[in-house]
Amino acid sequence: MFTKAPQHALLLAVAFQAANAVAIPDPTAAPAPVEARAPITTPAPIYFEGGRSYIIDKRNILDDIKSGVDGIAKSWGSVLGTDLPNYFTEGIPNWFQDLPTGSQVLSSLGIGDDDLKASPTEVLNVPPYANWTDRGWNVRFHGNVYKMPNISQEKIDDLANVFLIGVDLKDLPQSQQDQARNLTKEIFIVQQSDRNVTLHLEPSPSQGGDGEPGGSNAITPPGGSQNVTLPYETTPEGDFDVFMPIRNVSGGGLLAGNQTNNVQRLNVYADGTLTGNATAYLVPTEGITFISDIDDILRVTKIYDPKEGLLNSFARPFTQWMNMPEIYANWSQSLPNSTHFHYLTTTPEQVTRNYMDFIFKTYPGGSFDTRPLNFSDVSATLSIRKYLLDKVFATFPKRKFVLVADTSNSDVMKAYPQLAHDHPDQVQCIFLRNTSSTDDSDWFPYDTSGFEGLNNKSYMFFNVPDDLRGLDIANGQCLNTTIQQNVTFARQDEVLGIHGAGTSVTGSATMSLVVALFAIVFMAL
Ligand SMILES: *[C@@H]1O[C@H](CO)[C@@H](O)[C@H](O)[C@H]1NC(C)=O
Ligand SMILES: *[C@@H]1O[C@H](CO)[C@@H](O)[C@H](O)[C@H]1NC(C)=O
Ligand SMILES: *[C@@H]1O[C@H](CO)[C@@H](O)[C@H](O)[C@H]1NC(C)=O
Ligand SMILES: *[C@@H]1O[C@H](CO)[C@@H](O)[C@H](O)[C@H]1NC(C)=O
Ligand SMILES: *[C@@H]1O[C@H](CO)[C@@H](O)[C@H](O)[C@H]1NC(C)=O
Ligand SMILES: *[C@@H]1O[C@H](CO)[C@@H](O)[C@H](O)[C@H]1NC(C)=O
Ligand SMILES: *[C@@H]1O[C@H](CO)[C@@H](O)[C@H](O)[C@H]1NC(C)=O
Ligand SMILES: *[C@@H]1O[C@H](CO)[C@@H](O)[C@H](O)[C@H]1NC(C)=O
Ligand SMILES: *[C@@H]1O[C@H](CO)[C@@H](O)[C@H](O)[C@H]1NC(C)=O
Ligand SMILES: *[C@@H]1O[C@H](CO)[C@@H](O)[C@H](O)[C@H]1NC(C)=O
Ligand SMILES: *[C@@H]1O[C@H](CO)[C@@H](O)[C@H](O)[C@H]1NC(C)=O
Ligand SMILES: *[C@@H]1O[C@H](CO)[C@@H](O)[C@H](O)[C@H]1NC(C)=O
Repeated sequence: MFTKAPQHALLLAVAFQAANAVAIPDPTAAPAPVEARAPITTPAPIYFEGGRSYIIDKRNILDDIKSGVDGIAKSWGSVLGTDLPNYFTEGIPNWFQDLPTGSQVLSSLGIGDDDLKASPTEVLNVPPYANWTDRGWNVRFHGNVYKMPNISQEKIDDLANVFLIGVDLKDLPQSQQDQARNLTKEIFIVQQSDRNVTLHLEPSPSQGGDGEPGGSNAITPPGGSQNVTLPYETTPEGDFDVFMPIRNVSGGGLLAGNQTNNVQRLNVYADGTLTGNATAYLVPTEGITFISDIDDILRVTKIYDPKEGLLNSFARPFTQWMNMPEIYANWSQSLPNSTHFHYLTTTPEQVTRNYMDFIFKTYPGGSFDTRPLNFSDVSATLSIRKYLLDKVFATFPKRKFVLVADTSNSDVMKAYPQLAHDHPDQVQCIFLRNTSSTDDSDWFPYDTSGFEGLNNKSYMFFNVPDDLRGLDIANGQCLNTTIQQNVTFARQDEVLGIHGAGTSVTGSATMSLVVALFAIVFMAL
């Protein structure tokens, strides 16, 4: 059942393999049914034979495009245009879609409830943020309660192999094997619904229960230790997500949010487990919040290149993107004390421990948002970022925001400019790394039409971290004028423009071409 998928089958959708591998006959038994989509078979121009796929050579495609886009667009667009899953065009890494949940994990592994009872209950506690209200500090506790079934190493290896393209787990270096196994175990967890969650809070003595080096200027409050029990039990997916006022208790208490310029840190420990530690950030009413994506902006992921993306996510140690940590450290140290960092990624909750660990070792400490398990299908994935961003904006109506990400996320390309249209006084800057200008393997098209009508000095597309140096963000300087922008307010596509030129592509026929080319690149891996 868990056979290693032949390479070509993985090309269209690793997720299909994962979902199929754990699909159970009776979806109604599952609390969050996983829809195992059937792979879409597309006729020419891609042929599969045995373990190999035959495709048109990439360079020829580029030549063909140069010599007459429309002709090709029509012939290929009609073949492939509308049939591809939307995550091809939407920039959501497909290997993190449709992960199995709850009873699907159990039944797929042949593990019974009694076996599971022996496993300890664990809590993923996502670092919270808090706003200052007339009821005191209001903390958003969110995370997940789960158990890790005891899965044999052999089975873990089979499962891990499903996530790798063109390489067997056993052929990876030992440390990468370990990480891939760890991550696979984190995916095959069994969420615990209807649990009460009790948390213990205490002042965080250092610049990190999370261990971050780069500052963030957060301070240790004079007091604030207390225990809180969340008002609701966990959801069917084991999630908890609730705003809760905390008390100003003995021992000096907490500083009021309108009386301090500093972010205050509290450590949060989940009762009954050593795995539920996080640091909460009590954020002053006014100041600047950086909301930053992680993949391909803070770390090297290459989600647009599935084979690499999978290795970078499952096996290889997380690696910072160039000298980006230096830029963040400078922001953290030189901007006013009220500056807050919030890391918002749509990577599913199950796999975020590595993300948090990496961020806290490499970037300024801050709160987190990840994709909760009850947002598990593709359409929810596409809306989750906006949902989480709206929540942050609603929580801090007087703060300014600097939004950071890269062009390979289509949800970012919609949500970030939309927020600037909706909250013109609050979005201070938008910084987007143009992934394709520095990376030949990125053929993701991206769409800049959302930026039309915005002040063209309020956002910047950039190539390397150094482009962000020396900006006076606090005073609204967001544009490094030495960086040529190329924004067309249309779908932009580096394939047609040949990396960096940012040629505008319009019209549905051409769009289909982009999709077709994109598919071919995937098939070619
Ligand atoms: C600070 O916030 C509290 C609670 O919202 C409010 O009662 C108080 O008036 C505020 N103080 C100032 C100086 O705004
Ligand atoms: C997991 O299962 C194996 C064999 O099935 C057993 O030897 C091992 O003790 C179990 N581990 C835990 C932590 O229960
Ligand atoms: C894998 O998990 C084990 C146990 O949680 C941990 O000790 C080890 O450091 C992890 N290894 C990697 C490479 O993540
Ligand atoms: C959770 O707490 C509530 C209130 O104390 C209680 O009524 C409920 O039974 C508890 N649920 C579980 C599963 O313990
Ligand atoms: C919180 O609960 C723990 C036991 O779970 C207890 O030891 C501790 O004293 C409590 N702390 C406060 C501040 O109530
Ligand atoms: C908490 O109480 C202390 C004194 O007990 C007081 O100085 C402080 O202003 C209070 N903070 C809040 C947030 O009410
Ligand atoms: C969580 O905090 C507790 C108490 O400080 C500590 O014993 C434990 O090792 C921590 N767990 C992790 C995973 O850091
Ligand atoms: C910023 O916070 C630090 C403590 O972390 C403090 O020493 C410094 O005076 C504060 N700066 C301002 C301008 O408030
Ligand atoms: C605090 O956050 C909550 C939850 O987002 C929001 O409803 C409330 O309006 C915020 N309060 C203030 C004073 O900003
Ligand atoms: C602008 O970008 C260039 C090139 O990366 C860099 O050298 C410079 O420091 C940046 N900042 C300003 C304000 O020019
Ligand atoms: C560090 O940040 C400050 C304030 O944003 C800016 O003035 C300074 O030029 C920055 N330095 C570098 C090296 O980016
Ligand atoms: C804009 O196009 C120029 C010329 O192709 C290129 O050098 C530059 O990197 C592009 N700018 C961005 C932000 O991609």
